[in-house]
Amino acid sequence: MNIITKMKQDWDRRAKHHTRYWIATEDYKNEEVFADSGRRTADAILAALGPYYRETWTGLDIGCGIGRVLKPLALHFRQLFGVDVSAEMINKSKTWLRETPNVTTFETSGVDLNLFPNRHFDFVYSYVAFQHMPRPVFDRYLEEINRVLKHQGLLVFQIPIGIQPDVPMEDTIAVRFYEYHELQKKLIQRGFQLLETDEKRPVSLQASAQRRHAFHGFFLAQKIATIRPEINVGWLQAECQEHASFLDTHLYLSFAESCLKQGDPDEAIQTYEKLLTHNPDSLEAWLNLTTILIDNGKIDQAVSTLTNLTHAHPAYLDGHRTLKNLRRRQQWQKHMRPTG
Ligand SMILES: C[S@@+](CC[C@H](N)C(=O)[O-])C[C@H]1O[C@@H](n2cnc3c(N)ncnc32)[C@H](O)[C@@H]1O
Repeated sequence: MNIITKMKQDWDRRAKHHTRYWIATEDYKNEEVFADSGRRTADAILAALGPYYRETWTGLDIGCGIGRVLKPLALHFRQLFGVDVSAEMINKSKTWLRETPNVTTFETSGVDLNLFPNRHFDFVYSYVAFQHMPRPVFDRYLEEINRVLKHQGLLVFQIPIGIQPDVPMEDTIAVRFYEYHELQKKLIQRGFQLLETDEKRPVSLQASAQRRHAFHGFFLAQKIATIRPEINVGWLQAECQEHASFLDTHLYLSFAESCLKQGDPDEAIQTYEKLLTHNPDSLEAWLNLTTILIDNGKIDQAVSTLTNLTHAHPAYLDGHRTLKNLRRRQQWQKHMRPTG
C-alpha cells in the first residue's frame, strides 16, 4: 500500500466512525456546535485575509472534510471549491452543503490538485489538514498551490510551529510541527512570501515556539513567483506499513470514554470494537471493553472479547486468569437460567 491508499483508507475509516468528531474533536457533540465552530474558523480566515479580501474571489479549501468551513465562508465569496482525500468525507459534504450552491467538492488523490488548471484561484486556504499530512505531501501541496494560484494570489493556512522528533510517513493523523524558519524557507522555495496581517503574531509565535506547542493561528502567504515543481516523488511509491498511530488510538479511547460519561455504553462498545479491528495492540481498549461488557451483563460477549485479548496479548497473565473466572461465571449463569 502506498501513502495515497493509506491516507484514503485511514480517513475513510475515521469519517465512517463519527464524521464530526474526527473533523472537530472539541466541537462535535451536535450539528449546531459543529456549525458554530465552522463560523469561527471562517471568521478567522477572513480576519487573516484582512485588507486583501475581495468578495468576487474564487477560492479552494484543501482537506475540506464535509465543508464545515466552506459553508459559512461561501457567504463571502463568489465561488468556492473543496478537495479531500477521503471519498467518505466528500460524500457527506454533498449533504452538509446541499443548500450552498456556490460550493463544489471533489475527492482527490491527496497529493495533487490535478483537477484544476494553472492560475485558477484567487486564494487557497487550509485548516487542521496540513498538520496531519506527511511532510513530503505538504511540500507537494505547496508546489501545487503555487501552480493553481493566480499571480499574487493568497494562501491562508494553519500549521503548528515547534520542534518534534520525526513521525513515520504512514502515520496519517500525528500532528507535524514545523520550525518557523523551516516553514519560511519552504515557502520561499515554492514562490511564496509570508505576509503579516496580525500584529500580535510574532509574539504568539515566539511564545509557542518556546513552549514547543502548536500555534493555531493562520499564516498568510502571497505567491510572488511561479516555480518549476520538483520531479523527485519517489516517496509516492514507497510501501506504507500498517501503523498504530498514538493519536488515532488516543482519540478513539477519548471518544469511547465520553460516550460512557454520557450514558451511552453501546456507542462506547462499538468504538472500542472499531479501534481494536485496526489496533489490536491497545490493551487499554481490550480491558475497557471487557469491563463495560461485564458491567452491562453481556457475559458471552465479554468472554469472547477476553479470549481475543489473550490471543492478541498472550503474555498478559491477568487476561488468562480473568477469562477463567469469567468462563466459570458464564457456566454458572447458564446453569442457573430457568428452563422450560
Ligand atoms: C481534521 S479534518 C479537518 C477538516 C476541515 N479542514 C475542517 O476544518 O473542517 C482533516 C481533513 O483533512 C483531510 N485530509 C487528510 N490528508 C489529506 C490529504 N493528503 N489531502 C487532502 N485532504 C486530506 C481528511 O480527510 C480530513 O477531512
